[in-house]
Amino acid sequence: MLGKGLRAAFGLLVFTCAATAGPEKVDNPADYLSKFTKIATRDSHLGGNAIADVYVNAVALESGKAEADLASGAIVAMAVFSAKLDAANQPIFDPAGRMVKDQLRAVNVMEKRKGWGTEYPETLRNGEWEYASFNPQGVKSQNPTTGCFECHGTLNGLNMDFIYTRAELAEVAKNKR
Ligand code: HEC
Repeated sequence: MLGKGLRAAFGLLVFTCAATAGPEKVDNPADYLSKFTKIATRDSHLGGNAIADVYVNAVALESGKAEADLASGAIVAMAVFSAKLDAANQPIFDPAGRMVKDQLRAVNVMEKRKGWGTEYPETLRNGEWEYASFNPQGVKSQNPTTGCFECHGTLNGLNMDFIYTRAELAEVAKNKR
């Protein structure tokens, strides 16, 4: 039986620690287009009319070759675009059957550093990853990142280090050498 007091104390603990955990740790990787390596493009991002381009920094690429978790300093940036729609609001496809990018909507970032993540309860924590979302102008969203943790957290225990495009990363990393 978990007493009310204990639960309140736990809530307080999460609350008081919130100042040191969260998107404020993650900087805008403004130079991802020139410095990072593109590992994947996914149409229908989250089931919608959106296209995601996924980029990784050198640390992620180097440590992503093996099946192991990525090294401290790994950064993954995902540029999310709206898809071009026709008059009936249906996505337009190119000759290869891919959606066509319209406008950049957001850059979502996950970054991993040694010692990060300890502030989160085990049920929410995604190893040492933190998340942040930036608008096309590079301004960081102030919205809570709980949803990022929850959805990427469903990959826990699957040897993917919470990265949906983990297989693509391994493939690109191996072919780099
Ligand atoms: C409902 C599930 C869901 C939520 C919520 C979510 N993501 Fe993702 N994320 C995905 C999926 C699925 C992909 C893989 C790309 C695809 O298939 O479109 C992905 C890809 C990514 C990637 C590229 C690396 C990878 O995992 O492949 C980053 C970075 C990322 N998300 C950051 C975020 C951030 C930051 C948030 C919160 C603001 C967030 N995500 C919220 C499902 C989610």
